[in-house]
Amino acid sequence: MGDKGIQVNIHTLLSTKISQAMVAAGAPADCEAQVRQSAKAQFGDYQANGIMAIAKRLGMPPRQLAEKVVSLLELDGIAEMIDVAGPGFINLFLDKSWLAEQVESAIASDRLNISRADPQTIVVDYSAPNVAKEMHVGHVRSTIIGDAAVRTLEFLGHNVIRANHVGDWGTQFGMLIAYLEKIQNDEGEELQLASLEEFYRAAKKNYDEDEGFAERARSYVVKLQGGDDYCRRMWRKLVDITMAQNQKVYDRLNVTLSRNDVMGESLYNDMLPGIVADLKQKGLAVSSEGATVVYLDEFKNKEGEPMGVIIQKKDGAYLYTTTDIACAKYRYDVLKADRVIYYIDSRQHQHLAQAWTIVRKAGYVPESVPLEHHMFGMMLGKDGKPFKTRAGGTIKLTDLLDEALERARQLIAAKNPDLPADELETLAGVVGIGAVKYADLSKSRTTDYIFDWDNMLAFEGNTAPYMQYAYTRVASVFKRSGAGLEQLTGPVVLNAPEESLLAARLLQFEEAVTTVARDGTPHVMCAYLYDLAVLFSSFYEHCPILNADSEPVRQSRLKLALLTSRTLKQGLDLLGIQTVERM
Ligand code: ARG
Repeated sequence: MGDKGIQVNIHTLLSTKISQAMVAAGAPADCEAQVRQSAKAQFGDYQANGIMAIAKRLGMPPRQLAEKVVSLLELDGIAEMIDVAGPGFINLFLDKSWLAEQVESAIASDRLNISRADPQTIVVDYSAPNVAKEMHVGHVRSTIIGDAAVRTLEFLGHNVIRANHVGDWGTQFGMLIAYLEKIQNDEGEELQLASLEEFYRAAKKNYDEDEGFAERARSYVVKLQGGDDYCRRMWRKLVDITMAQNQKVYDRLNVTLSRNDVMGESLYNDMLPGIVADLKQKGLAVSSEGATVVYLDEFKNKEGEPMGVIIQKKDGAYLYTTTDIACAKYRYDVLKADRVIYYIDSRQHQHLAQAWTIVRKAGYVPESVPLEHHMFGMMLGKDGKPFKTRAGGTIKLTDLLDEALERARQLIAAKNPDLPADELETLAGVVGIGAVKYADLSKSRTTDYIFDWDNMLAFEGNTAPYMQYAYTRVASVFKRSGAGLEQLTGPVVLNAPEESLLAARLLQFEEAVTTVARDGTPHVMCAYLYDLAVLFSSFYEHCPILNADSEPVRQSRLKLALLTSRTLKQGLDLLGIQTVERM
């Protein structure tokens, strides 16, 4: 198998052809065909909605323009019917033999005919937990959604740099080092942080209650910033312990982050004095009551005046914003990013917008390199309030994953009591973790979402168990046939409407992939795969495969099943959702 197929993205193809016809009909060169997948079969497979806007610009009756465009449209052999509908919509019905050819070509390609993009260097900032703090549910969305985006971009051939912007710097490290020192003295070298949360809390308590401790902590902040050897080593230890713990979570989650991807806040520390000096020199930053501030017209304070963004405090300390200014500059200068994407919750939007406004004004990153905030809402409990334990504490990720596993184990054991223990364990992992991830991925990321065990573990609807089960069903059809691809020598023929609908949907995989790559919206992929699974069910119900009337029909249908199973598997893989061959 190779990937030299005809490589047709139907949407791109139709958009190009229709735009060409529009220009030939007198439309300006920048006209947009506005091609969409049709929502209803009676409107064809695709529709073009751009005629009305152009007709207005040309001062022409829209239906007349539509007719003219259709007469100039060269889609012979691609569309079997083209209708003008309503005020001037163009509805396109794809040709069945053309669809069948495309299916053949996708089957022959080891990447399902998905074309590679012009490779860009794309930095993706995601996960970003904080040192000496447990990763909590707030970091889950960034980790899961960011990883799906990364997988998708890599699949398209981009050079993706995973940037785990770990919170590993700041004045709290004096206190943390002092506390690490204290427990090392008490407990010896073999330090295991059972609970980072407790560690942080205890450090804070010591700091608040013990003046000697607080004094030491303050001196350690200064020493750490001055590069003192001992403090550096203690700091490194804290980072290592935290990231070792987080790595376990990444591995359990089947997330592709590794230790090499850590690019924490500390990385930019040495750049900060230079940034502040440069912003002053450029006249962007000014001194105000001892602090250094950038006033931005783009943002207003409560009094309606330009908002002041502090980049260095009176005591010399730098801020989160200063770090993000340096960080964006670094990603462009050093990492040579063509595009930078940040998966951070929506509450940090203003922070990023301010940092980037300064970055652009200072000319650190040219406008041609997009800085994108792919924000997301909060994870809520069933009561619609921020997701918490019953006692009101933050939920630890490890506990959440343990519960996912336990629930999946019970669910699967109930359905399948004879499953050997080791298979049950594997399956519980795949389904339980898959359910947590898929629940997040399948919701539009911009809104808050309700974390609900029963919904995410249901075997019906747009859930991981449903999708994983659908995959095993399709895969098993193929296995039961005993056929390999080599045996499937006959052509794909699309007769029944269920066959054509399934074929058309299969060929839209690339559209889902490119949308996710562009917008960072994995829910589009989930919706696509779910729809595909549902179309397969109805195809399976109406079109006997193994008991088809004739061998050619059997072969054609097996090919559709094969492409469906490969598309489901590839799509779920891009989401970071594992599949099994039987469940
Ligand atoms: N560590 C931060 C937090 O837990 C998130 C960092 C996101 N990335 C960035 N470049 N600011 O809120």
